[in-house]
Amino acid sequence: MYFLRNTCRWVRWLRHPAQNGILKVGRITDFQAHQIEHQLGAFTDCNPRELGRDEVYEILMECILEGGEMKMSEQKYVKLNNGVEMPVVGIGTFLLSPDEAEASVVSALQDGYRLIDTANAYVNEKAVGRAMKKSGIPREEIFLETKIWPAFYEQEDAVEKTLERLDTDYIDLLLIHQPAGNYQTGYRLMEKAYQAGKVKAIGLSNFNKEQIQEILDICVVKPAILQTEVHPYFQEKEMKAFLEKEGMVIQAWYPLGHGDKALIEEPVFTELAAKYGKSNAQVILRWHIQAGNIVIPGSKNPDHIRDNFALFDFMLTDEEMARVAAVDRNKRYYTSTPQMLESYVKMVPPVDEQK
Ligand SMILES: NC(=O)c1ccc[n+]([C@@H]2O[C@H](COP(=O)([O-])OP(=O)(O)OC[C@H]3O[C@@H](n4cnc5c(N)ncnc54)[C@H](OP(=O)(O)O)[C@@H]3O)[C@@H](O)[C@H]2O)c1
Repeated sequence: MYFLRNTCRWVRWLRHPAQNGILKVGRITDFQAHQIEHQLGAFTDCNPRELGRDEVYEILMECILEGGEMKMSEQKYVKLNNGVEMPVVGIGTFLLSPDEAEASVVSALQDGYRLIDTANAYVNEKAVGRAMKKSGIPREEIFLETKIWPAFYEQEDAVEKTLERLDTDYIDLLLIHQPAGNYQTGYRLMEKAYQAGKVKAIGLSNFNKEQIQEILDICVVKPAILQTEVHPYFQEKEMKAFLEKEGMVIQAWYPLGHGDKALIEEPVFTELAAKYGKSNAQVILRWHIQAGNIVIPGSKNPDHIRDNFALFDFMLTDEEMARVAAVDRNKRYYTSTPQMLESYVKMVPPVDEQK
């Protein structure tokens, strides 16, 4: 509360740089103050208390309309450990055919999404490339994320080929898809691409703490992110504490439990959905972003795609966040085994045959 009261005081007396007078804002309610604090956290990925006054001011300017009305920005970003800004909500494309992926990505970009997640293994990278072009959105406004598959870790041109399929000259975030095979070599390949400017940030997917530590011990470029299974039944609290210590952020795959009805229809989500006039899925996704998770819900349904991005006009209270935290059951939908990881190396996705 100390910070919030101070923030409100600042708002009242800070000067508008473009005007020659004191910024006029009306009374700021506790709810708005809470929104501001959340906005500060979401924008900067750091404790608002550690921000300088200029940064706070800049963000407040984005929050406040003339006359003191609050405006919540449509898009939120998190700052990665190399300064790159990444949207906190994106569209996932796992299990989507090329045609489905193209339609979903075009739909998402039209709805305001700017983050797209694909992978060599989804065999839809070409379709994602087509969708980006079709959308008419400038490439630099889009945050494109993809993953190198284990069978390609030792191929020198793996990144180049990925770029060709995506029909772009850089990737915003490239991940090692699985801790399988020679993943250290795969990581070095990504570091090389990063140093050559072909990739803006690099990270890991499906790594456990020991495997992340192994990369941290050998890397030249620190991984920025871990993409892993996270949803209300599997909240990865310990992993998040570990990542935070290492300056890494978490990105949730299966954010909706891969559509599991039992999860989506948990009574707490139904109750909160009714309270806020939202769907259960929106409440779950809102919980994720408030908990600091980047989400990439997958969908081929245009209504779901639109809803999954409409998350910035409501906010769960601390008590509601705690109720969702209590839903955790340490239940994964996917568990890898050494045999599965071994098989991934031999599995070669038909990347050249895709539409
Ligand atoms: N790194 C990895 O190893 C890894 C593994 C898995 C996934 N991923 C990434 O994470 C993304 C998300 O995972 P996912 O797509 O498998 O699972 P998900 O996002 O948890 O759930 C997708 C399922 O939920 C349904 N759904 C989506 N929005 C909904 C809404 N608003 N209301 C009700 N149902 C809704 C979808 O059906 P409809 O099509 O009918 O909307 C689909 O069946 C993937 O697309 C992929 O990009 C990465």
